[in-house]
Amino acid sequence: MNQKYITFLKKYPRIFRIAKATYTYGYLKLKRLEKIPKRIAFKITRNEDIVEKLLLDYPMILSGMVSENHIRVILTNLKKVLDENVEGDIVELGCNVGTTSLFIRRFLNYYKSEKRFHVYDSFEGLPEKEAKDQSNTEYQFKEGECKKEKEEIINNFKRAKLKLPEIHVGWFGKIPDEEYPRKIAFAFFDGDFYSSILDSFDKVYSRMAPNSRITIHDYQSKFLPGVEKACAEFLEDKPEKGTITNNDHIGIMIKK
Ligand SMILES: C[S@@+](CC[C@H](N)C(=O)[O-])C[C@H]1O[C@@H](n2cnc3c(N)ncnc32)[C@H](O)[C@@H]1O
Repeated sequence: MNQKYITFLKKYPRIFRIAKATYTYGYLKLKRLEKIPKRIAFKITRNEDIVEKLLLDYPMILSGMVSENHIRVILTNLKKVLDENVEGDIVELGCNVGTTSLFIRRFLNYYKSEKRFHVYDSFEGLPEKEAKDQSNTEYQFKEGECKKEKEEIINNFKRAKLKLPEIHVGWFGKIPDEEYPRKIAFAFFDGDFYSSILDSFDKVYSRMAPNSRITIHDYQSKFLPGVEKACAEFLEDKPEKGTITNNDHIGIMIKK
């Protein structure tokens, strides 16, 4: 692509991303694979991956709460449960403005999945901070932080022309059991504090189908030590004790 064309396209970020992807695919057809420089071959291989394609095609809402790689890890785990036909619906506890929710919805659409997608949030920000959440870091998360209006996630879905998830408002522990799906295939916990993660497990764990997955944001984060403590305490007497793996501070638990 010549520079003039690139400068023009950059004014339209979405068209630019599509043009970039098309150009890369086109390149594959023009050259034999072994002649393509490694860097480009790598890009092409990754572009064939639906997770990479979604990340390339759609901009993230820059909320500062999740990174592109976090969404990559979450979607890769969601893909596993869909590929394995795990029974149940999808839940996100702590959806905020929907940065991750939008990608989960796009991914379900790509799979033409009929699983229902439920999201939960107090829309009051973080709950009370306990001693177990106390970190040694200079930056301290506080009660009420991350507060957003419910309308923000609704507007973000409308703007993206995506089907709204089922939105449940309240503190995780206080939302009635009937508002959680009876069977769950995939859960994303993003409540930041000890009590929020413990409440997430309390509500969701017994409903997780065999081979379903729970992904937990901020796992082993030095800023939010309560997350790992809640996981360890909840799983103490469960078969999944000690099995959580950490990929870029996303904890991954596979239900036995
Ligand atoms: C870090 S944000 C979530 C970010 C979101 N997952 C994303 O992808 O952008 C944490 C959210 O969890 C909510 N939250 C934390 N603890 C909660 C609890 N115990 N009950 C309900 N909502 C809670 C907060 O209101 C906040 O919106």
